[in-house]
Amino acid sequence: MTDAVHTQSNPATADLTADAPSFPKRVFSGVQPTNRLQLGNYLGAVKRFVDMQNSGAETLYCIVDLHALSVWQDPADLTRATRELTAGYIASGLDPEKSILFNQARVPEHTQLAWIFNCVARMGWMSRMTQFKDKAGKNRENASVGLFTYPALMAADILVYHATHVPVGDDQKQHIELTRDVAAKFNNDFKTPFFPMTEPVIEGAATRVMSLRDGTKKMSKSDPSDMSRINLTDDADTIAQKFRKARTDPDPLPETFAELAERPEARNLINIYAGLADISVDAVMAEVSGQAFSEFKPRLADLAVAKLSPISTEMERLMRDPAEIDRILANGAERARAIAAPILKRTYEITGLVV
Ligand code: TYM
Repeated sequence: MTDAVHTQSNPATADLTADAPSFPKRVFSGVQPTNRLQLGNYLGAVKRFVDMQNSGAETLYCIVDLHALSVWQDPADLTRATRELTAGYIASGLDPEKSILFNQARVPEHTQLAWIFNCVARMGWMSRMTQFKDKAGKNRENASVGLFTYPALMAADILVYHATHVPVGDDQKQHIELTRDVAAKFNNDFKTPFFPMTEPVIEGAATRVMSLRDGTKKMSKSDPSDMSRINLTDDADTIAQKFRKARTDPDPLPETFAELAERPEARNLINIYAGLADISVDAVMAEVSGQAFSEFKPRLADLAVAKLSPISTEMERLMRDPAEIDRILANGAERARAIAAPILKRTYEITGLVV
């Protein structure tokens, strides 16, 4: 993709890629309000959002409701899922006083900047996006145009705040690379280092949590089998049952993580354990090597219940007061707009729009 940037840009311009470190540190990320929050979203994203919030950085976390519309959503479900995801953010440790929590639809600067980026990004870049290929499936002609241009809106989500760091799971890496390409091309086309080169933050043991039924497939909110994932709203018995029935192989756990290279299901359960316990996979292996799955699975289930049930209890409590959730989102949107509006205005001016 970098090639595309260079071939489309003016070679006479100096290097106008703007290093993120020269911009003040600002963290942005988002989750789509589709179905329920699952363990992959929690370990790969939301838990990391909390870590970054508590490290003292300026943090904005969005419920990306407009992205969700790129595939059909039942309106009542979308409303419920937006509130439930907000409750999930807060119950997981995001504090609306410390982080700006808001939904995308309330900050129109995202879609306004997305239009500019639709005109910067190239068809070829979008066509290479694996998420589009996966979600559109075989019948691409029938996919929404929004699903195709989705990454331009995602780039706008990030760059409308000049965000420098974006914590995400491994599956979003390609979209962040595209965000950098959009920023670089804009900076080159208009000969000004206006947008930063945002850094993806993909860290920890659980950047790619896999399905409990198939260790080669990502755990996903949209998998038709509920047994493939742990939902943050699952009760203790359901969590225990899902881990008990998780696919594994007959061998006991070896001494080192490296020995699990050919055992994707076993590797996944160790990664989940490490993510939940906040320890390294090597530390997990030191604890559990030699154990059979009949021993390890209940241990993993107990850990998951201990970590997740306070979150689901708190989510339930918060969901009893939707007006309070809406108030938090409205307040967050106002703070987000205060950052986004001047950046959008400057973008318009740079492009020559009369505003
Ligand atoms: P979404 O809603 O699919 O997922 C939200 C976050 O959860 C992570 N994730 C996982 N991490 C580890 N293992 C898994 N099995 C797993 N499943 C999901 C995702 O990587 C993501 O970090 N395009 C984004 C939403 C978005 C966004 C943004 C993110 C829109 N604009 C701007 C960051 C910045 C998405 O579809 O995430």
